[in-house]
Amino acid sequence: MQTQQRVALVTGGGAGMGEATAQRLARDGLAVAVLDINQENARQVAAAITASGGRALACSADISERAQVDNAIATIHAQLGPISVLVNNAGIEDFTPFTEISDDNWQRQIGVNLTGNYYVTQAVVPDMIAQQWGRIINISSFGAQVGAPNMVHYTAAKGGIIAMTRSLAQELGRQGITVNAVAPGFIDTPMAQRTIAAAKLGENIDAVLASYPIPRLGRPEEVAAATAFFASEEAGYITAQLLGVNGGTAV
Ligand SMILES: NC(=O)c1ccc[n+]([C@@H]2O[C@H](COP(=O)([O-])OP(=O)(O)OC[C@H]3O[C@@H](n4cnc5c(N)ncnc54)[C@H](O)[C@@H]3O)[C@@H](O)[C@H]2O)c1
Repeated sequence: MQTQQRVALVTGGGAGMGEATAQRLARDGLAVAVLDINQENARQVAAAITASGGRALACSADISERAQVDNAIATIHAQLGPISVLVNNAGIEDFTPFTEISDDNWQRQIGVNLTGNYYVTQAVVPDMIAQQWGRIINISSFGAQVGAPNMVHYTAAKGGIIAMTRSLAQELGRQGITVNAVAPGFIDTPMAQRTIAAAKLGENIDAVLASYPIPRLGRPEEVAAATAFFASEEAGYITAQLLGVNGGTAV
């Protein structure tokens, strides 16, 4: 029986799915560290959790910078305690035709969407090993499963996350740590709204959504629910899995 309050870290917790996930995990009884490159957004989400009776800490860091990550994790550890649930959610999108992707653009996509997860996970796993209990949930994308034009760099990183999930699950299972991935479809967040506003899909958004078995955008809370399940005590025999939350989009 777990008596001490567990601590969760949600990267990119200042907006979109990360915000919904931080709120959900707080409602599930966890103390939540809301980490975001956008300090003010992280502060607001943590304040909202605290205002509704939860325990939260805001911290700002760019996950693609190892030193910033290590500082943030040390602060969380000192103020909330050892981390036992990690949601690697922070990510950035970009739409560029393959032949026009610059080296800087490629490195930024891989740096945040793949290497950032490596930095954060490596900083957090020692806490989980010490506890012989942990839940890591990595947010990939349906784009990594089906491919997405003009997103070769983004989907390469998101595919890497799926492979990392499976390998880490094998490595850490004996330590009581599960590692799973969620592959969201098209979810109504600031990122999706930017994509729609800039008409980056090259098709009418209504036509795209109408082609889905569940013909609408997903809600951030629906992704948060899947993540919260993987984070739960009951999910202890589920590891190395990839769960699509995508309205039935064919993958
Ligand atoms: N929205 C979608 O349709 C969709 C679909 C598939 C996958 N995803 C993935 O889901 C995750 C969440 O997406 P979202 O739609 O909520 O995005 P969002 O842009 O709405 O929110 C992302 C959050 O991450 C933060 N962030 C960005 N770069 C960061 C960095 N370097 N360090 C720390 N924080 C950083 C942002 O400030 C923001 O608060 C991302 O990994 C994204 O790639 C989104």
